[in-house]
Amino acid sequence: MKSFAERFGARPDTVASAPGRVNLLGEHTDYNDGYVLPASIPQRTRVAMRVAAGTVTTVYSAELDATASFTPGEPPQQQFARYVYGCIEETRLRVGDVPALDIHVESDVPMGVGLSSSAALEVATLRALRDLFELPLEDVLVAQLAQRAEIHHAGVNCGILDQMASSLLDLGSMLFLDTRSLARTLLPLPAGAEVLVVDSGVARSLAASKYNERRAECEEAARRLGVASLRDVDDPHAVERLDDPWRRRARHVVSENARVQSAPGASAEAFGKLMNASHASLRDDYEVSIAALDELAALLQGDEHVYGAKLTGAGFGGACVALCRAGTTPEAGRRVIDKYHASGRRGRVLVPA
Ligand code: GLA
Repeated sequence: MKSFAERFGARPDTVASAPGRVNLLGEHTDYNDGYVLPASIPQRTRVAMRVAAGTVTTVYSAELDATASFTPGEPPQQQFARYVYGCIEETRLRVGDVPALDIHVESDVPMGVGLSSSAALEVATLRALRDLFELPLEDVLVAQLAQRAEIHHAGVNCGILDQMASSLLDLGSMLFLDTRSLARTLLPLPAGAEVLVVDSGVARSLAASKYNERRAECEEAARRLGVASLRDVDDPHAVERLDDPWRRRARHVVSENARVQSAPGASAEAFGKLMNASHASLRDDYEVSIAALDELAALLQGDEHVYGAKLTGAGFGGACVALCRAGTTPEAGRRVIDKYHASGRRGRVLVPA
C-alpha cells in the first residue's frame, strides 16, 4: 500500500472523497421507478489526482496494491480501474476533454458486501474531477454520470440508488428519494435510533445474474399488468391476478414502495417493523435472501436493543442493516456477532467501525 507521493513522486493537485451506503428501506425498487431510503456509512473512498504528462492515465489502488493504465477509448482490463475510466469517459462526453491523470485510490468501504464501494469510488472520482477542472457538475448530475459509468463501462445494469446515496448524503441523515422524478428530501434518522451494519461473511456470488433475472421478471410483470413500470401499480390487489413468479416479484415491489412511503416521520419502533417486513418480503416474495442473511437478520431482530433489521443491497450474501437504540449499538453488535459465530458462521460488525 503506497501513498500518492510514494507511487507518483509528487503531491496531488486535488483530493476528494465519498461514502458507502446502506439502504434502510426500498430494496429492488429503484429499477422499477420506485422509492428508496438509504443512509451513508462512515467508511469512505478517497481519490487523489494530478495532471500527468503525455496521454496515459494511471490509476493506483492502495487496497489492492495494483496499478492500471488507459488512454481515451481504450478501457483497462482491471475492474477497479473501469469505474474510474467510466467516470472520465462520461465527463469527457458531457463537458469536453480531460487530460491524462495520475490517480491514487484508497478506501475503507468494504468491498463485495453490498455497501456500494463502487458508487463511492465513482462519486469520489467525479468530485475530484469537478474540483480539479472546476466543472459545472452539481451533485445529482454527479450521481447520474456515476450511474452511467457503472452501466456502460463496468457492465453492471444498476439503478440510481447507490450513486444518489453516495453523492447526496451526509452522516446522520437518510435520503427519501423518488427514483423516477429524483424528487428527494434529506431526513433525520428516526428519533433515538442509530444504524448497525453486520456482514454475513458470505460473498455475493449469484448477485449479478440473479439481479438481471429479477429486473427482467419485473419488466414482464409490468407488461402483464399494462403499466410502464411497477411503480405505477396503485392497487396492491392488482398483482394477485398474475401467475408466479411475477405475482410475488410484483407484490414485493408494490409493498416495498408502500413501506418507504410510510417511513418518513415514523417512530423508531414503527420504522423497525417496516424493516422487518421488508426482509420478509425480500426473502419470501423477491427471493434474494440466503440462509446466512436470514439467520443474521433473525438474530438482529431478536436483540433487545434492535428496532428492526433486513438485508441491505442486492442480496445473495453481503450485509444486514439494523436500526438500534441510540448508544447501544456497539453492545448490540457484539452480542449478535457472538451468537452468529457460535452457530459456526463467520461475519463481522462493519458499523460502528
Ligand atoms: C444494488 C444496485 C442498486 C439497487 C440495489 C437493490 O445495490 O446497485 O441500484 O437496485 O442493488 O435495492
